[in-house]
Amino acid sequence: MADRKLMHCLLAVSLVSSLVAHAQLSTTFYSTSCPNLETTVWEVVKEAVAKDRRMGASLLRLFFHDCFVQGCDGSILLDAGGEKSAGPNANSLHGFDVIDTIKASVEAACPGVVSCADILALAARDGTFLLRGPTWKVPLGRRDSTTANQSLANANLPSSGASLATLVSTFASQGLSPTDMTALSGAHTIGQARCSTFRDRIYNDAANMDTSFAAQQRKACPQSGNDGHLAPMDVQTPREFDTAYYDNLMARRGLLHSDQELFNGGSQDALVRQYSASPALFRADFVKAMVRMGNINPLTGTAGQIRKNCRLVNS
Ligand code: HEM
Ligand SMILES: *[C@@H]1O[C@H](CO)[C@@H](O)[C@H](O)[C@H]1NC(C)=O
Repeated sequence: MADRKLMHCLLAVSLVSSLVAHAQLSTTFYSTSCPNLETTVWEVVKEAVAKDRRMGASLLRLFFHDCFVQGCDGSILLDAGGEKSAGPNANSLHGFDVIDTIKASVEAACPGVVSCADILALAARDGTFLLRGPTWKVPLGRRDSTTANQSLANANLPSSGASLATLVSTFASQGLSPTDMTALSGAHTIGQARCSTFRDRIYNDAANMDTSFAAQQRKACPQSGNDGHLAPMDVQTPREFDTAYYDNLMARRGLLHSDQELFNGGSQDALVRQYSASPALFRADFVKAMVRMGNINPLTGTAGQIRKNCRLVNS
């Protein structure tokens, strides 16, 4: 009797683990179906970053914004459904054309095989590496969604005014820890933000902001107007994926309010200091967190589809 119970229990466990295994991504997913995939992605991203170095940052952000809305399913790439025009995305995301170029090359070599969601995961990795960030093996096998969701994008993507508590809970609802959150925020060592996203900070955050930094930023970002003025989020080395972002936070020179929340007397201060002191630790944690973020609710098996065009659901 006890044996039978144990057996049922073991069966249940193996059923659950086989379901989990089924949903698992693999770094060799396309090794026979599209052996040159990673080279193809790399070539296109390399050329795009050579033309415009910011593109490395833009591709990384695109992947983050994909994963936080319905999982890493390429939903951000769909023209319909309003995800692209959600508050955090409108007039803010770049790189859709680069993804289109990659997809066209990949389709020419391996038609109907590689998802847009996976292309985005690889492009984000290569963009990071081209700006002297770490590289890593990307687990693959995601499929593409047939829907996008504007309201979910507005609900799930963090805003630049967020408090530490909100940031922690926003990442927790995606299964990511505060450490993941603080490591992933290091992505702000590259790329740029519009005046409209940091205006409140440079005029209203005096308590936790370097005075001369605020004065400097105010020159081109007035209290009203010039909303689209761009400033690097890491003023020291905006095109290098390094730990200057964390050094800046310790000097109260975070550009976004949400950035400075990571070093404002709270739970993440110690980790910010550690990352500032140890680029190796930061890079290792960043890679782990990127893989975890890439694992958010992927569509696998026969779910979803492999889009022919990343902007459109297959007809
Ligand atoms: C922690 C919460 C986060 C908040 C509140 C946030 C907010 C923002 C904002 C407001 C911008 C500027 C957008 C604009 O002005 O158009 C930005 C840019 C950027 N974000 Fe984040 N972000 C967060 C986390 C992340 C994460 C997790 C990543 C990637 C792992 C990331 C990568 C980037 C990159 C690379 C840029 C620059 C993009 C470019 O120059 O095209 N961010 N972020
Ligand atoms: C978007 O997501 C919300 C929250 O999960 C859900 O209630 C809504 O039905 C979704 N809308 C679409 C168009 O899928």
